[in-house]
Amino acid sequence: MAGVFNPSRLAGKTVLITGASGGIGAATAILFARAGSNLILTARRQAQLDEVAAAATQAHREGGTGKGGKFVTLTLDMQDRTAIKGLLDRIPDDLKKVDVLVNNAGLVYGKEVVGEINEDEVDTMFNTNVLGLITLTQLFVREFKARNSGHVINLGSIAGKEPYAGGSIYTATKHAVDAFNGSLLRELVGWNIRVSQICPGMVETEFSVTRFRGDRDAATAVYDGLQPLVAADIAEEIVWAASRPEHVNVADVLVFPTAQASATINHRGPLGQQK
Ligand SMILES: NC(=O)c1ccc[n+]([C@@H]2O[C@H](COP(=O)([O-])OP(=O)(O)OC[C@H]3O[C@@H](n4cnc5c(N)ncnc54)[C@H](OP(=O)(O)O)[C@@H]3O)[C@@H](O)[C@H]2O)c1
Repeated sequence: MAGVFNPSRLAGKTVLITGASGGIGAATAILFARAGSNLILTARRQAQLDEVAAAATQAHREGGTGKGGKFVTLTLDMQDRTAIKGLLDRIPDDLKKVDVLVNNAGLVYGKEVVGEINEDEVDTMFNTNVLGLITLTQLFVREFKARNSGHVINLGSIAGKEPYAGGSIYTATKHAVDAFNGSLLRELVGWNIRVSQICPGMVETEFSVTRFRGDRDAATAVYDGLQPLVAADIAEEIVWAASRPEHVNVADVLVFPTAQASATINHRGPLGQQK
């Protein structure tokens, strides 16, 4: 039956994931591996990438597709434009034909208001979330056009749809991703190349730990009284988008926990007990 969920469409495909050393990127790697994809996993922390590659090897075995299962890890700092431009040369020949690019690496620092924001942190957020993503995407869009095939999946955010106080820089970076994604989608309408944006609400990963500069209590408090999404919830959305038939492009997906309705509206406490 046409259109029915068929993860075997991913078997033998090659997927490059940025920020694959933890959180959503790592969970996404595991699901693609289970579906029989090959993986190029990038991030700054090599030891964590190695752990994800080992878990992916196991997931691939359990998936039992008999396809794919070639995994390579490459350290890459998304702030380093020269390193990004050199990435293709570092990918082994048998994985050079990338089918899906998952632009996942990203981060937020702090909740400071404008006037009190550390300028180095502004640079880090923009360089990672926006400029690195653009550089890498340019590289692969050229490849995809040459083959008239490929899929770019960008990790946006509710923060890219809705600004909030204390999030000026992060929301600006994710609005930039939203705009970039939208322009790319329009530019590629005449090509057999898909462009998707997945926009999560609250996902409990290391994201908030980074935001609060290592303060785990402050990070945990973000999710007090509600059930947040977990990394695998968003990985499922990413793999879902990638596993649609070639004529289907999942353009934009906004995913909240059930207890969240906007960047700032959420419900803490049991559900279904309102008067
Ligand atoms: N968690 C949420 O609530 C949420 C909500 C909406 C959107 N998102 C988006 O989802 C994406 C993944 O976030 P997450 O929740 O999985 O956070 P996470 O657990 O903190 O993971 C972030 C990943 O990004 C990588 N990264 C950070 N800076 C990097 C750099 N300069 N170069 C290369 N990789 C870098 C990290 O790897 P290394 O440290 O090893 O480099 C890590 O693998 C981000 O784009 C984030 O904005 C998250």
